[in-house]
Amino acid sequence: MTIHRTALSVSRLFVLAVSSLLISVAHAEDDAPAAPAADKPVSITPESIEKGRSLYRRLCLRCHGPEMVGGNNAFDLRTFPLDQHDRFINSVTNGKRAMPPWKGIISDEEMAHLWSYVGSRGGKL
Ligand code: HEC
Repeated sequence: MTIHRTALSVSRLFVLAVSSLLISVAHAEDDAPAAPAADKPVSITPESIEKGRSLYRRLCLRCHGPEMVGGNNAFDLRTFPLDQHDRFINSVTNGKRAMPPWKGIISDEEMAHLWSYVGSRGGKL
């Protein structure tokens, strides 16, 4: 169990290291002025939406309902304001009233995929 956990965190660290490397490379090549953060916080790709969808099914569905419909008195995620990416990160990381905090449970990368899913209204935008 301990060995397994260590292996898992090492591979997570590796993924993080690689993704931050990729991000810095991408930034280095990007000389266009950055879009206003509120408009387009992260690039929402179909792959990211699908990863977010499966994370959502595993972690969020039991309270927020299948495909964000018919949740258990939880916030209707189909109405989450699309220009409030920071609020999304903050609420999901730290929790909000009856919602548990997800800090340490989901990685930054997984958080980005969840935003792709929620922020595209499940790929419908
Ligand atoms: C145990 C049930 C539960 C689970 C699991 C859960 N949520 Fe929630 N969530 C809630 C409740 C209840 C609220 C409403 C909080 C409040 O009172 O404002 C909420 C609110 C939210 C909000 C709105 C916060 C705001 O700023 O108003 C977001 C975004 C959200 N959840 C995302 C997620 C995501 C993403 C997941 C999966 C990683 C998830 N939730 C899993 C219960 C849950």
